Amino acid sequence: MADLDNLKDTKDYHFDIPARNEAFFLKGAGALDWGMQNRLARIFNPRSGRTVMLAIDHGYFLGPTSGLERIDVNIVPLLPYCDALMLTRGILRTTVPPAFKHGVVMRATGGPSIRKELSNELLAVGMEDALRMNVSAMAVQVYIGGEYETQTVNNMTRMVDMGNRYGMPTLGVTAVGKDMVRDAQYFRLATRICAELGAQFVKTYHVAEGFETVTASCPVPIVMAGGKKLPAIDALTMAYRAVSEGAAGVDMGRNIFQSEAPVAMIQAVQKVVHELMKPEHAFELYRTLKEEQKATVVA
Ligand code: R5P
Repeated sequence: MADLDNLKDTKDYHFDIPARNEAFFLKGAGALDWGMQNRLARIFNPRSGRTVMLAIDHGYFLGPTSGLERIDVNIVPLLPYCDALMLTRGILRTTVPPAFKHGVVMRATGGPSIRKELSNELLAVGMEDALRMNVSAMAVQVYIGGEYETQTVNNMTRMVDMGNRYGMPTLGVTAVGKDMVRDAQYFRLATRICAELGAQFVKTYHVAEGFETVTASCPVPIVMAGGKKLPAIDALTMAYRAVSEGAAGVDMGRNIFQSEAPVAMIQAVQKVVHELMKPEHAFELYRTLKEEQKATVVA
């Protein structure tokens, strides 16, 4: 019990200072509960309002894809440079140091491998285990227009219901099946459905034409998915365009971990996303860091 002797008489209530009542910084998140806002603030940087998520969850349907054969060797050195890590619970528990302090976005659906119909996914992680792992959001893939569209939408809405109960945000991931057209019209539809049905943020691909209509018509933050490996300058340009056109950051995988210099690449992406560094300058930074890091390894 606190010592009751010598309690100070004078108190300063700062009558001249109105109580602070600041709006939460993320789009569409003002009415969320404190716990959910706190989790979102572990993913999105409150200063820029944006995030660099590192996606390494590909193994859940692809197995040990190129660049992710040894996550302890190839990915752990990148962890200090990401704002959040998107991955499966198996990799989190086996390979990520528990001292990792940034956001964890848990891949929460799965089922089919690349040998089967990919849209036939079900929920693959329970809320209790997510809370045990102290994750910051659950990622649920939704196949709008896919064979199992309704099932995947139902995966997401069930997760949203559980998340609302426990203060856990849901990331709606718009998956594109093999034969679907990737254009602004499709992504406006898919992202808006995710947000309307309760996702607190949405991941989608960048499109060259009309991406700003996708971000404008979605009432929650959009993070840009990376997609297949591109030359570094093209990947940085795509990230720059996405954030300039309203994305609240990126969730990149192969364009970082399959890069010739992943640590340099993720640092360049950070500059683009948080400081809106022009892609040509970010590419120069990437090249400089790549040379420096090569020199360090040789020495
Ligand atoms: C894909 O299956 C995963 O959900 C990835 O998180 C996503 O595709 C982003 O990774 P990448 O930038 O390599 O496309």
